[in-house]
Amino acid sequence: MSMAMTSAVRIRVAQAIASACQQHQSRGAVHHSRWNSKRKSVIANARGARRALQELLDTKGQNEEEEEQLTGPVLKDSVQWTSPLSIVKYPDPVLRAPNAIIDCFDDSLRRLAEEMFEVMYEDDGVGLAAPQVGVNVRMMVFNETGEKDRRDAEVVLVNPRIISSSKDKRVFEEGCLSFPKIYGDVVRPGKVRVKAQDLSGKSFFINIDKFPARIFQHEYDHLQGTLFCDRMSSDVLDSVRNDLVQLEEDYIQKNPQTTIQRI
Ligand code: CO
Repeated sequence: MSMAMTSAVRIRVAQAIASACQQHQSRGAVHHSRWNSKRKSVIANARGARRALQELLDTKGQNEEEEEQLTGPVLKDSVQWTSPLSIVKYPDPVLRAPNAIIDCFDDSLRRLAEEMFEVMYEDDGVGLAAPQVGVNVRMMVFNETGEKDRRDAEVVLVNPRIISSSKDKRVFEEGCLSFPKIYGDVVRPGKVRVKAQDLSGKSFFINIDKFPARIFQHEYDHLQGTLFCDRMSSDVLDSVRNDLVQLEEDYIQKNPQTTIQRI
């Protein structure tokens, strides 16, 4: 933990210096142009700059659409699942299986999202990915408050993809409903820009920061078959190793025929 914290702080300081230098340079440029140009040309320059900026933003939007395509199996039909849902625990191979891109936005999908919220609240969670209830599709639900009455804070993301991540790194102690009573520090970017679809299939972009950014990235990892123990530094992993091995032993005892990926 201390190692991760130290490197995170070091990265933050380096970024602060870089950003201060950049601001200083751009202030210098504005200053220079004021002293050397007539008012008219300053206005023309400002208009030109604004136009250039808008063009840049427009192109950026297009690139985002073009560059970020999900790859993998596509589920054209209704998502199949059975009620009631229950949480799949580590090291069940379902947590490592590929998750299909959803291409059928029907009642089955909407009911799955609803039931995922129910299971999440029952287990005192703040986020849940579909593979965690044994359904290998690319959908996640979260509610940063963890409170059932706070419907306004509920977020459902279908086929989410990360467009960009901030360079700043944060350390936070995470838990996971698939790893009962196991907690460990994980380093992740502070902010992410995401493209996703809603339950009707409509695409949208969203900027996520603070606690929701933490939850989103943890759940997004599930959709990639990545688990939070994969992201732990070796010393953090060592601190939870015995508990992970215990979960593996329990699973092997109940499922002697299944091959699992061990820590
Ligand atoms: Co999890």
